[in-house]
Amino acid sequence: MDKLRISGGVPLAGEVAISGAKNAALPIMAATLLAPGVHRLRNVPRLRDTQTFARVLELLGAKISFDGNLLTIDTHTVKSVEAPYELVKTMRASIYVLGPLLARFGQARVSLPGGCAWGPRPVNLHLTGLQAMGAKLDIEHGYIVARDVKLRGATVSFDVVSVGATAQLVMAAVLAQGTTVLENVAIEPDVTALGEALVACGARIEGLGSRRLTIHGVSALRPIDATIIPDRIEAATFAAAAAMTGGRIRLLGVVPEHFEAALHKLEEAGCAVERGVDTVAVSGPARPSAVNVVTQPFPGFPTDMQAQMIAVCAIAEGTSVVEDTIYHDRFTHVQELARMGARIELKGNVAVVNGVRHLSGAQVMATDLRASASLVIAALAAEGETLIDRIYHLDRGYEALERKLSALGARVARVR
Ligand code: EPZ
Repeated sequence: MDKLRISGGVPLAGEVAISGAKNAALPIMAATLLAPGVHRLRNVPRLRDTQTFARVLELLGAKISFDGNLLTIDTHTVKSVEAPYELVKTMRASIYVLGPLLARFGQARVSLPGGCAWGPRPVNLHLTGLQAMGAKLDIEHGYIVARDVKLRGATVSFDVVSVGATAQLVMAAVLAQGTTVLENVAIEPDVTALGEALVACGARIEGLGSRRLTIHGVSALRPIDATIIPDRIEAATFAAAAAMTGGRIRLLGVVPEHFEAALHKLEEAGCAVERGVDTVAVSGPARPSAVNVVTQPFPGFPTDMQAQMIAVCAIAEGTSVVEDTIYHDRFTHVQELARMGARIELKGNVAVVNGVRHLSGAQVMATDLRASASLVIAALAAEGETLIDRIYHLDRGYEALERKLSALGARVARVR
């Protein structure tokens, strides 16, 4: 199994081009099922997760071709409505095919997503929302099964702000009979990007970017032709790497507003941040200052940056308090950072981080995508060498990470 070997202590310096956003690409790939045709998606990151999703679409009968970051999906030949457990268990986002299959074919057999490294990740809001739109859903042998479904407009008010359930219902509603109103929706840039891609191919959606969407069903959509937005979490991860190493990194091809909460927190920790139109330059301080963080839905501080921010706080001057309100048990990185000398106390969904002057290199294990990113940036700052095991987690969401880090001066290598 691949590992990453990192020798720390080098202040990162230079420019890095940010890839397309995984969490915007996946729902848009699912949305191609809504219209038979040849869809063109540009700036699609080459990741394990986009490969897995392409595999799901191929199993449904679509023809897929990648040319660099251009993804062409021909959905004329989609015949199957089954998304198997073998694939869905490896990537929860596979559930995004459910709404589009019901909208186009009126039937679906989609495996329920399995467990997750850090606790329960229910999909009840996806299911109750689709049921409100008239879908009769049965759970049979671990699969969500639906037959003879005619989706119709409904009003759905979410108890919890959910990126996935919002995207799911938007995709179900664009071809439904009548009008759907979705309240208390997620407004993450990934959700807005999905809405904009659908409107560009004929959908009627009002209120994008607000917590209330009104979707007037149409009879058909044209094929999608879209460019995937830049990955705000990848960008914020590199910004945190500048903070950790006392380096200076210029992020290219970004939308600064998409990760403003993370930039603001890094400024609080002592970074200098220069925001351009589509660039951001981040200079790390000699030593970060302690900060308090509470994760929230966009535009709040993203839970997908919680682990990386804990790494920054681990070497900060003072005590930081980091609370994750989205996932109460997303802290599997804490024990691994402790192996590098971090002093972190966990109390439920709150981490109290007592900053230390230096971390030291060690053998550690990645447990999920963002936990592994926090280990990478900790290793970049640590004294000596770190060996990170199970980096397949990283490959799920960071495109060409070693190449990008090496270009910034990092001493990093993938080893077997
Ligand atoms: C998306 O997951 C992202 N994944 C996650 O990023 C991200 O952590 C999360 O949003 C929050 O920002 C993708 O976009 C593919 P949610 P999702 O539905 O859609 C509860 C990464 O690192 N909930 O917004 O699954 C849920 O338990 C990944 O790239 C229900 O209770 O998240 C959580 O507490 C990891 N019932 C909250 O809502 C439901 O039916 C937010 O979850 C759905 C969600």
